[in-house]
Amino acid sequence: MRRPVMAGNWKMYKTPAETTTFFEKFQPLAGNAIDCEVVICPSFTNLTAAVEAARGTPIRVGAQNIGWAKEGAFTGEVSGPMIQATGATHVLIGHSERRHYFGETDETVFKRTQSALEFGLTPIVCVGERLEEREAGRAEAALVGQFQKGIAGLNEQQVARIVIAYEPVWAIGTGRTATPEIAADAHRVIRAQVRGKFGKAASDALRILYGGSVKPDNVKSLMAQPEIDGVLVGGASLDPAGFASIVNF
Ligand code: 13P
Repeated sequence: MRRPVMAGNWKMYKTPAETTTFFEKFQPLAGNAIDCEVVICPSFTNLTAAVEAARGTPIRVGAQNIGWAKEGAFTGEVSGPMIQATGATHVLIGHSERRHYFGETDETVFKRTQSALEFGLTPIVCVGERLEEREAGRAEAALVGQFQKGIAGLNEQQVARIVIAYEPVWAIGTGRTATPEIAADAHRVIRAQVRGKFGKAASDALRILYGGSVKPDNVKSLMAQPEIDGVLVGGASLDPAGFASIVNF
């Protein structure tokens, strides 16, 4: 059995004070969920406040990006050791907004993933096709390409430590969720790639999350798909009661 991961991506929202307030409200509602892993990914500037607020609970905290070097002349980047020092345990890598607005490529995704693993963080590596790719019948090819260039170069020990998030770009922030069937199909494509490269045990163990307009009212049907091992929630993770009802689906 794969233990579900219910993750929130706060994107560029909330101050440290707002982070603390969120946890005060969220913790009594869902902070002791034990049949899944709850991971909240705020901005770098909120990591310390989030870790502090989550102390003593099973809630984990993740960053939204990671520099690929340990240190150096990389203005604006935040390294693995810096993230680790905050007490964060996870990191989102290759989110479509990073790819779209900030020039993230499969090559940089690969480097950042290696860095996260080197510094003991769990990478949540995001993949997903764009609308024009899906409409042109190239969704599967897009996912295979992202896997081959961004993930397949890891070794077996490394791949056992990652989580993959499937986030179709056309479903992010649009209110247009992939149907559970479309999501499960995409997860099967990704899992088949993992199996082809790393074998059955690795592909059976790998957790693949779905992300894109996940809300309290659609989480149940998504999670009913055996292929879907959790969710990566954007907008609906900002509200403590809303995210708690997703976690407690
Ligand atoms: P929304 O849930 O707001 O569609 O965002 C999804 C996402 O990008 C999570 O990483």
